[in-house]
Amino acid sequence: MPGSDLNRGLEGITVAETRLSYIDGESGELVIGGFPVKELAVDATYEESVFLLLNDRLPAADELAEFRSDLANRREVGDEVRAVLRRAAEEEKPAMDALRMGAAAANLGTGEENPREDARRVIAVLPTIVAAYWRYRQGAEPVAPHEELGHAANYLYMLTGEEPSDPQVRGLETYLNTVIDHGLNASTFSARTVVSTESDVVSAAAAAVGTLKGPLHGGAPGPVLDMLEEVHESGDAEAYVRETLESGERLMGFGHRVYRVRDPRAAVLSTAAERFYEAAGDDSFFETVQEFENVAVDVLAEHKPDRRLETNVEFYTAALLRGVGVPRDLFTATFGVSRVGGWMAHCLEQLDDNRLIRPRSRYVGETDRTWTPVENR
Ligand code: COA
Repeated sequence: MPGSDLNRGLEGITVAETRLSYIDGESGELVIGGFPVKELAVDATYEESVFLLLNDRLPAADELAEFRSDLANRREVGDEVRAVLRRAAEEEKPAMDALRMGAAAANLGTGEENPREDARRVIAVLPTIVAAYWRYRQGAEPVAPHEELGHAANYLYMLTGEEPSDPQVRGLETYLNTVIDHGLNASTFSARTVVSTESDVVSAAAAAVGTLKGPLHGGAPGPVLDMLEEVHESGDAEAYVRETLESGERLMGFGHRVYRVRDPRAAVLSTAAERFYEAAGDDSFFETVQEFENVAVDVLAEHKPDRRLETNVEFYTAALLRGVGVPRDLFTATFGVSRVGGWMAHCLEQLDDNRLIRPRSRYVGETDRTWTPVENR
């Protein structure tokens, strides 16, 4: 059949220009808003990272204060949304389903139809949705957002009802900054595709959440934690890795579509996690994590000598989020709480210079069937 060259998975195809992030998969470089990830992640607040992506520059002090309070003012969700989240929790739907339902309702009651305003609202409200769902899952009532707390601190506060410690906030904030944007990953591509039809950013967020849910994208850190806890208990990383690979399964937290070296985000999160566990006096879990990584990388190299499979972001995400106290079932949703900053910035960038995203498929079906009425089939 006539048609363009087939490129399954769009690997290596460039479909947009962006100022938001740059990845070099061969050298393991990641630049976000002009900053190497390790510079941005460690010092910035999440609000600064979002402002950077939305405005292509860092905010001055007064702009940051204004932006912070603007986001804080947009955190509340209405009773109708809470009712949906309660139902999702009662039915034990996964957190990502609750996040998708909540995100889809993000413009309820806002009266705003402006993409920049809606983008801020979506970014502000995602932590509230996840936390309210989680509280219902615990049989508790949601905790109202705390206006005085920053975005990261308030998220932890709404999960537990207690103000988090500084190391917890710094650990979470480092995570949120590290994964806020990452080129044209699958969920960001979904978001850009939605707005390329001149649809709206709330619809884009809902589509992006659905895309992030899958284990090949954002769903890996929960299984990574299960694996780490199992090995922490058994003490035999090598047996675990070999058994997993021998049974034909993939080792979660390793391999990447773009990186052929260790994911630079793994380095940032590993340092943050190490610092956190050390300060908490809980070194033994982190030792298991490091030993697991060493063993896994060696065994994967034996297993696939012609394909470099290195540690990806999800591996240390699991270790760090466990440390700061994010429940395992919320790992992927917490990824969404961060990545929504990138999604929204990409949507605005796409809208600024829009072209409908519409690739082609190669037809491999029949072409000369003859219609048979149903009673003759
Ligand atoms: N464990 C074992 N084998 C792996 C692997 C892993 N984590 N990742 C890739 N491979 C193998 C594949 O089985 C494949 O082998 P084959 O050619 O014999 O079939 C080969 O390496 C190439 O993999 P491919 O599926 O082409 O890579 P991809 O670019 O499509 O996949 C991921 C990238 C991330 C989806 C993949 O590495 C993976 O599934 N990792 C585990 C899940 C994970 O950590 N996801 C989070 C990503 S940030």
